Amino acid sequence: MRLERFLSESLGLTRSQSGKLIRSGEVLVNGVVNKLAATQIGEQDVVHYDGQDLQLTGPRYFMLHKPEGYVCSNDDPDHPSVFLLFEEPALGKLHCAGRLDLDTTGLLLVTDDGQWSHRITSPRHECAKTYRAWLADPVDPSAIALFAEGVQLRGERALTLPAELVLVTPTEALLTIHEGKYHQVKRMFAAIGNKVLRLHREQVGELVLAPELAPGEYRPLTAAEIAAF
Ligand code: URA
Repeated sequence: MRLERFLSESLGLTRSQSGKLIRSGEVLVNGVVNKLAATQIGEQDVVHYDGQDLQLTGPRYFMLHKPEGYVCSNDDPDHPSVFLLFEEPALGKLHCAGRLDLDTTGLLLVTDDGQWSHRITSPRHECAKTYRAWLADPVDPSAIALFAEGVQLRGERALTLPAELVLVTPTEALLTIHEGKYHQVKRMFAAIGNKVLRLHREQVGELVLAPELAPGEYRPLTAAEIAAF
């Protein structure tokens, strides 16, 4: 592949960013400065930048136990990003397969495979996500039927898709939804006059948050876990 693409893929840069880097003379190929973006890089060639030999990383898949206080984006000036919790190369290539709010904890899937994350986030696939919610007020059991039918969220035209509500205690519930509207769980409880005090995602599809992961810890997914989506 061309040197420019090699740099984009190994460092998670746009083509124009890698073009600039190459022209700056900071990139070495086989020990020699190379300023030609079109140079063909083969398997034997060693590309060197910023004190390290660069590798092409294959598709990567992780589960993170997201702690409170971290954002799922890279561009929030006020809060740390979940990507700071990863000790991996080319962090710029990773993205979250479905975001969680700043104050939500639990299972977050992180990958650099856009097609895979699309299967999790696209409304067409209706991938199930299960949340444990702690509520300010007791939930009336009539909410079970209401959520199963769909509720009207403020500012939305369509009702929510049927969701499964299980009351663990009057103020603690498990809610499984099959879509991912903005703040959906909090808005669903707000629609029935309640308030979510704490929210934790336990499961996405068949994948359950690994109990050995403390908040802030992550691990790669197994081949079977990746294939389950
Ligand atoms: N629904 C919410 O309200 N917040 C989340 O973080 C996830 C789902």
